Amino acid sequence: MAEFSLRPRFFSEYIGQSRVKENLKVYIEAAKMRGEALDHVLLYGPPGLGKTTLSNIIANELGVSIRTTSGPAIERPGDLAAILTNLQPHDLLFIDEIHRLNRSVEEVLYPAMEDFALDIVIGKGPSARSVRLDLPPFTLVGATTRAGSLSSPLRDRFGVMSRLEYYTVEELTLIVSRAADLLQVPIQEAGAVEIASRARGTPRIANRLLKRVRDFVQVRGEGIITEAGARDALDRIQVDKMGLDHVDHRLLMTIIEKFRGGPVGLETLAATIGEESHTIEDVYEPYLMQIGFLQRTPRGRMVTMRCCEHLQVEWPK
Ligand code: ADE
Repeated sequence: MAEFSLRPRFFSEYIGQSRVKENLKVYIEAAKMRGEALDHVLLYGPPGLGKTTLSNIIANELGVSIRTTSGPAIERPGDLAAILTNLQPHDLLFIDEIHRLNRSVEEVLYPAMEDFALDIVIGKGPSARSVRLDLPPFTLVGATTRAGSLSSPLRDRFGVMSRLEYYTVEELTLIVSRAADLLQVPIQEAGAVEIASRARGTPRIANRLLKRVRDFVQVRGEGIITEAGARDALDRIQVDKMGLDHVDHRLLMTIIEKFRGGPVGLETLAATIGEESHTIEDVYEPYLMQIGFLQRTPRGRMVTMRCCEHLQVEWPK
């Protein structure tokens, strides 16, 4: 079964992010009562927490079509103009990784968001003039892992800004149970808890782990995911009790062994472990900081005593 079919389609199926969800429901209902397009929405937070899912749900709840694209995919102003002029009134335009839009494209977006207008320059040099084209009213939903990288003129044009948070183990347990249902794989509550507690607060990871556990359980002919079955499978794929994988281990052990626990600068760390610094910042660090294993200081990254306890190594200080 395709990954997409695991995604909830309406708020009634969507687990977690309750504050974001309840507020969005109000804005959607109000926009529908007024017969207007929903104001522009910025969704931000670490990867895998449901930004794409939410934007699809917003479109479904509004009863409008969604056009999906991403910052890097829109190369020239004309690409964006083509998308905008093809929208139906009140449609939703979803731009993933919106912080990666280039400057010239972003400038087309400002009047589009603010006045539903497209400013087109005709001709070159002294005879050049600007023509304003009306656009249908639409809703822009932007998603980003880093709200801080958005230029302030762009950020200011979103009427709604919602920050997605890591999910609790309880919420992830419900998500795993729901996904197991959809995949038609029997699972015990304790099996779902085991998967949920190693999913680093992230539904995308929870569903991926569920699928791998399912593979082991299926090949071993066990017929149901139990706590022991899940634990054994997760140990085999090297996801530890806190959900840390081999990259997390390498990152933390490098700081401990090569830099005496830190502080070490991000670029130095990235070069040492052979990962992109953006990947470390966007994907690995947020969770390690959330669980109190890593600290960001002005002089660089440092591991914590708690981290050393978990890894069962001596505190280097
Ligand atoms: N699958 C992935 N994310 C989900 C969520 N938040 N609720 C329900 N199912 C999901």
